[in-house]
Amino acid sequence: MAASFKRLMEDSREMSRRSFLAMAGWAGFTVASLIALYQSIKWLYPNATYEDPPAFKADPPSVYPPGSTTVLIDKRVVINHDANGFYAISLICTHLGCTPRYFPDVTSDLVAAGTAISKDPDTGQVATKANPALPGFKCPCHGSRYFRDAVNFFGPAPRPMDRVHIEVARDGKLFIDRSVIVDRAFRLKV
Ligand code: FES
Repeated sequence: MAASFKRLMEDSREMSRRSFLAMAGWAGFTVASLIALYQSIKWLYPNATYEDPPAFKADPPSVYPPGSTTVLIDKRVVINHDANGFYAISLICTHLGCTPRYFPDVTSDLVAAGTAISKDPDTGQVATKANPALPGFKCPCHGSRYFRDAVNFFGPAPRPMDRVHIEVARDGKLFIDRSVIVDRAFRLKV
């Protein structure tokens, strides 16, 4: 009787060990299958970005007369040509990243409402009752405003929009790289 009980216990231990090994085997197989499936799906969707490359060519400098502001809305870039040279602005609002729009007058309504507008620290321009209209950018999302040179003066934007690299390429066209931020004082002399 004692011998058969002992035998029964050994058999049941052997069964538990086998069940455990079988379960572990299935678990390993399932994990390996899931990893293989994930890799196959990943292969179908390669790590590609469909955004425009950050660098591009615009027209030759002669196309942009002194004093002009040219908005390349699809590139989210502005080319400004001032008396002292060219510079490019990344047209991305520094509040939450919307695309500001250019207007020939972004100040006169504020002047009429008695809102104090700070002087542009770069150009020294200021909107007054005698001269209320200054050009610049308005952000459609939360109302930030920028002077034409991208310096913020109204709304939640915390700082000016970035200036980005601009140069003349070998073929004579302007080459702009939105991924390279440059100093606000930078000017391309042509
Ligand atoms: S994103 Fe431009 S003001 Fe908020």
